[in-house]
Amino acid sequence: MDHSETGVSVGVIGLGYVGLPLAVEFAEAGHRVVALDVDTAKVKALRAGQSYIEDIPSARLAAAGDRIHPTTRYADLAQVDTVIIAVPTPLTENREPDLQPLISAGSALAGVLQEGQLVVLESTTYPGTTRERLAPLLEESGLHAGRTFNLAFSPERIDPGRTDFTLRTTPKVVGGLTPNCLRRAVDVYARVCDQVVPVSTPEIAEMTKLLENIFRTVNIALVNELAMLCDRMSIDVWEVVRAAATKPYGFMSFSPGPGMGGHCLPVDPFYLSWKAREYDMQTEFIELAGEVNAAMPYYCAEKVAQALNDAAKPVRGSRVAVLGVSYKAGVGDLRESPALKIISLLRDRAADIRYHDPHVPELSEHDLRSTALDEALDGIDLAVIVTAHPGVDHGYVVERAPLVLDLRGTTRHMGVPQL
Ligand SMILES: NC(=O)c1ccc[n+]([C@@H]2O[C@H](COP(=O)([O-])OP(=O)(O)OC[C@H]3O[C@@H](n4cnc5c(N)ncnc54)[C@H](O)[C@@H]3O)[C@@H](O)[C@H]2O)c1
Repeated sequence: MDHSETGVSVGVIGLGYVGLPLAVEFAEAGHRVVALDVDTAKVKALRAGQSYIEDIPSARLAAAGDRIHPTTRYADLAQVDTVIIAVPTPLTENREPDLQPLISAGSALAGVLQEGQLVVLESTTYPGTTRERLAPLLEESGLHAGRTFNLAFSPERIDPGRTDFTLRTTPKVVGGLTPNCLRRAVDVYARVCDQVVPVSTPEIAEMTKLLENIFRTVNIALVNELAMLCDRMSIDVWEVVRAAATKPYGFMSFSPGPGMGGHCLPVDPFYLSWKAREYDMQTEFIELAGEVNAAMPYYCAEKVAQALNDAAKPVRGSRVAVLGVSYKAGVGDLRESPALKIISLLRDRAADIRYHDPHVPELSEHDLRSTALDEALDGIDLAVIVTAHPGVDHGYVVERAPLVLDLRGTTRHMGVPQL
């Protein structure tokens, strides 16, 4: 069927940070969307017109109106032309790929798959997943990948909280199992993305996403290692990075920080290092970057202890206000957030912790609730800026707190000790 002139109907499986924005974008472009999640609370919220993803205000959901049909029933996907899978791809406790959500989604989809449908995987994963893992699962339907249904991989590049690049303005890489799979997938994404970048195979598209994330992980580790060295050498790493960034070519600036968080950077590279072992390769850059970044919260907790020591205070019993606990500025995502580790390490040393984060009302694992900024700063010994949210007046923090340690470089112009 030629879909280029007509509307498409799209199913999205997994309505998280990736899936919900995609569903809304397709609906806003006038297409009918079946939005599926196994989490009944999410489906219920969407039915009530309530968004739970910060980048999607409920008003956008409302504007998309009844073009979005939230559901928990896989059978509803039988009516759509294209199904996009955006389920999580976490690691197991042994830090190996956990494809369980993908396997459940693929098996359930196989039960309702229709001839002529296009299936696109968007979850970040190792090269070969679409062809070697997803295709056989979907073929349990009796249909054939590349012949009686189409299959493609297209990595998501969404960066929660970012407003300068959106789903529409960020080029979308697509790799199809066959030329026809690719054509179909390019046609679908062209409806919501200004630029679609076709590549020859799903494996190229899978590896592209990993290269992008590993590039970030390795460069963040590099600048973090330099930050630790600069600290010993009494060199201001922030000024070094800023100065290096004036080079108009061949350099890209990365900021030091308390470690990596989120669902992507601390997780995705290990999908590749796991796969590489099948080819007798050790991906040493990935392992090393993982080690350096994982050590950062320990280093930061030690910096807190040092700052208190310089003020003749022990960690035990000191009142420490943690400012910003989500893993990045402007969002409330706590997954793998280094702040959680820093809080644990300081609590292990009997520090008295409170926190302020306008995006995170409570930290259930620490039995803490965010307090107003003034309350968080009341009577403290030290404030540590772990994530510098826009809208938090860090100048005021520097004025009020007796001691500040800034792990993000936001207050370096005020002479505050930095990471
Ligand atoms: N968050 C990001 O910034 C980002 C960016 C690019 C790529 N990715 C990748 O996209 C994928 C999804 O990430 P996310 O951040 O949206 O995850 P998420 O946890 O926010 O959302 C995933 C959703 O899938 C649902 N789900 C799980 N198993 C399911 C199943 N069998 N059937 C239906 N729904 C199911 C969950 O309930 C959840 O709502 C991951 O592979 C991730 O690596 C994420």
